[in-house]
Amino acid sequence: MIRVALVALANAKGSPGTTTAALVLALQWPRPVLLVEADLAGSSILAGYFRGQLPHDRGLQPLAIAHSHGDLEASFWEQTIPLVRNDPDKKLLPGIVSPHTAPAVANLWGPLANQLVALERGGIDVLVDLGRLGTGGAVREDREPIVRLADQVLITTGSRLPDIAVTRELVKSRTSVVDAAARELTNLTALTVGPGRPYDANEIARTLGLGTLGSLAWDPVNAEVLSVGAPAGRRYSTSPLVRSAGPVISRLQDRTERRRARFSTGPREPSRGTGPRRPPEQWGADGGARTVQAGPWRGDGRGEA
Ligand SMILES: Nc1ncnc2c1ncn2[C@@H]1O[C@H](COP(=O)(O)OP(=O)(O)O)[C@@H](O)[C@H]1O
Ligand SMILES: [Mg+2]
Repeated sequence: MIRVALVALANAKGSPGTTTAALVLALQWPRPVLLVEADLAGSSILAGYFRGQLPHDRGLQPLAIAHSHGDLEASFWEQTIPLVRNDPDKKLLPGIVSPHTAPAVANLWGPLANQLVALERGGIDVLVDLGRLGTGGAVREDREPIVRLADQVLITTGSRLPDIAVTRELVKSRTSVVDAAARELTNLTALTVGPGRPYDANEIARTLGLGTLGSLAWDPVNAEVLSVGAPAGRRYSTSPLVRSAGPVISRLQDRTERRRARFSTGPREPSRGTGPRRPPEQWGADGGARTVQAGPWRGDGRGEA
């Protein structure tokens, strides 16, 4: 059985590293994967990882328009681009251009969440970069359906005290009781970015009252390959950042499986619709059972629309 999942990543104010984490996980992901940029602050992957070389003409905004015409499912794959050139198993659904356009996609989140869940039928895992997540209360969080339907919501945090303090407030606002029982029930999980400055992943998770997926290494040089499209050096593929992604993915898969075993007895059924077909172009014939190893791209080697 192919295990598939909907995984979201989010942070509290001022705790960076979420988009870089989403990218390194997507690039190392062992199965077909779609990365969805759902940060209300606007897309950073086109300008960063893709160095602004692709036109921003696909993604959530055209998808929201398609949805208003009842065409969400039919036009879904048209709005994605390859995350890595010549790798049919990694795709990106670009986010909104700027925060000002967030209202234009406000009605998309519910239907989009259902659509992403339905990708299970095609054996495609989904990673959603939510960026900063609202703490509830006064701020309306339109993306709640994604948070609710996700198998895991990775709350990324740095290991410095101010990062942890602000992340703890976010977690508290989203788990009614921060105790052992809540830790078992919630789909929130801690992911530390840059442990040991000075706190480690276990200490942080205990403070947050969450389970932990461990950590991604603090690795500024190689993080910039992903965050601003810096050229990948020879050692990129064996860098601390890339090497730290594998164990996080394994734990993520284990936790997802355990959580599913707990809450249901069979594969999850999408709530409605017929489920999207696979994208028009072929995904890898091997079902994607491989990991991108090479230092990813140099020059124009990234995905092309
Ligand atoms: N693991 C890491 N180690 C070192 N620097 C990182 C790491 N992850 C991200 N960064 C850096 O932090 C900055 C913000 O990263 P980004 O992933 O865009 O954060 P966010 O999406 O949370 O705003 C970037 O300059 C990036 O290079
Ligand atoms: Mg980001």
